[in-house]
Amino acid sequence: MRQSLRALALALATTALAGGALPAAAQQAVPAAVQACVACHGAEGISQMPGVPSLAGQPEGFLQWQLVFFRNGVRHNPVMEPIAGALKDDDIRVAAGFFAKKPPAPLSSAAVDGDAVYQAGLKLVRANRCAACHKDDFSGGQAAGRLAGQREEYLLKALRDYKAGARTGGGVAQMADVVYPLGDEDLKTLAHTMALWRPGS
Ligand code: HEC
Ligand code: HEC
Repeated sequence: MRQSLRALALALATTALAGGALPAAAQQAVPAAVQACVACHGAEGISQMPGVPSLAGQPEGFLQWQLVFFRNGVRHNPVMEPIAGALKDDDIRVAAGFFAKKPPAPLSSAAVDGDAVYQAGLKLVRANRCAACHKDDFSGGQAAGRLAGQREEYLLKALRDYKAGARTGGGVAQMADVVYPLGDEDLKTLAHTMALWRPGS
């Protein structure tokens, strides 16, 4: 079942979104396709709302895929499923392009040296090779989202959703494997460290 959903999503994503020039709307400051998004995700794609992820600086491919997953009902969320369900392929391209080009949320300036949870998280990050897919600066790969500077409570929810098998999508087997050996305290620690992450640590 999981495999066939994945295959379906892959097929839809590649046929629906392959190629094509951006429509004129993409050249406007806030394209029509994005106007409904900023109320929750922030005008610059940096969310101030608990539970709502920042989209600024996310990999463009990741954003397109997640919107296709919501639209197809492969990724479940009562808020995003109807919103994405109303998006056309062009809207998805425009929205993903708009937010991907926005500068990401500034890295936190919170003191991390004496933060034992942060330090413990760094060890977990290394042990579980998170950077292999999310990149050394945690800006994300094409299929894997940006983690650095993302909202902590959202990161925790995402990790718990993978752990519970509640979130499925591209590369789901990868994240399911990653969280399989981890306990809830580990997930909290990882969310904390990724939210506060800064280079050189
Ligand atoms: C009413 C608030 C609301 C609006 C409006 C909204 N979103 Fe969302 N969005 C959310 C929430 C909440 C989530 C987190 C869902 C979850 O927990 O899985 C989310 C998740 C996402 C994600 C997944 C990001 C990630 O890191 O996994 C994308 C992409 C996204 N939204 C794009 C959009 C776009 C594009 C629009 C406009 C067409 C939009 N959203 C409008 C609330 C909103
Ligand atoms: C083998 C590659 C791989 C590894 C290793 C990996 N990830 Fe991921 N991660 C992914 C992919 C692919 C996705 C997107 C999956 C999807 O479509 O839902 C993802 C998604 C996520 C998300 C959701 C992001 C969002 O905005 O919705 C979080 C949080 C996350 N990973 C954290 C981690 C952490 C923490 C580690 C290390 C403990 C880790 N990942 C290791 C590939 C990986």
